[in-house]
Amino acid sequence: MIGVKKRISFIDGKFIDHQKAVVHIEDRGFQFGDGVYEVILFNNGKIIDLKWHLDRLYRSLREVKISFFASEAEIIRIILQLFEKNNLKTGYVYLQVTRGQANRILDFPLDATPTFIASVCPLEYLPEQILQKVISDNKEFNLKFASNYNVVTHPDLRWSRCDVKSVNLLASTMIKQKSSEMGAIDAILIRDNFITEATFSNVFIVDSNGHLITKDADNFILQGITRNRIINLAKVNNIKVEERKFSYQELMVAKEIFLTGTVTLIRPVLMVDKKLIGDGKVGLIAKKIAQYYLDFLNAHF
Ligand code: PDD
Repeated sequence: MIGVKKRISFIDGKFIDHQKAVVHIEDRGFQFGDGVYEVILFNNGKIIDLKWHLDRLYRSLREVKISFFASEAEIIRIILQLFEKNNLKTGYVYLQVTRGQANRILDFPLDATPTFIASVCPLEYLPEQILQKVISDNKEFNLKFASNYNVVTHPDLRWSRCDVKSVNLLASTMIKQKSSEMGAIDAILIRDNFITEATFSNVFIVDSNGHLITKDADNFILQGITRNRIINLAKVNNIKVEERKFSYQELMVAKEIFLTGTVTLIRPVLMVDKKLIGDGKVGLIAKKIAQYYLDFLNAHF
């Protein structure tokens, strides 16, 4: 793995060699996708929006009734130690809790101990490089050189508890794979003619009034931490935000579209289903939001 000599991960209460970090064949996460997870950005030694991520993790656990009792302080200690042991200053931490190991019956086992794992991953580009690129990109969209900004739409095949950050990602992986095979960077998902989100990001559009619109948080989307932070930054900077349903038609006539997420950060979309969006350049609002987010990261401690 880039930048890490000997990767160390956390499982069963221990820090061990990543190659030896394995779970049992009857772990319910492995057999049923019976578990939840979080992905958190670690930037220059700071854990970004940690409290919101931990609140969401505990919420997901409550929603699926996994009794996991590690305290916030314990989880934070593990995250910090992982970055230190892997000698990383910037990267992601992946946290996962499954219901644990039990005989393969659907009912929740009474006596299983949840399996908690944590691992870290370096980034290909630093967050400030990704955000700077958005801020300074003035090029016209060109399919040959800018396939990064090209998405397709796809029916949202997922279940109706997308608010839970479940490890059950089969529908998302199938759709994402299909979009890659179509030469797109991701798929924007449609349920009953309304946009929900993308396969691993939330979707924002800018309408003709310059208002930022994103789907209201219900059971059909994951309430992204980056989404929430961006709504907050936009409001503080006097950009009007509407959290509401928006249709495929609104998406296609939007002045701007961008995706947001811990891995994505802010990704402008300039082409949807082979149609150009806006004037085919990264929009003013996307650039402003990228700048606000960059300032937020730099100020965060
Ligand atoms: N995905 N929507 C979905 C379906 C997601 O999987 C994610 C995050 C988001 C954005 O959420 P956040 O801003 O909290 O990262 C929205 C993570 C990063 C992943 O699965 O890798």
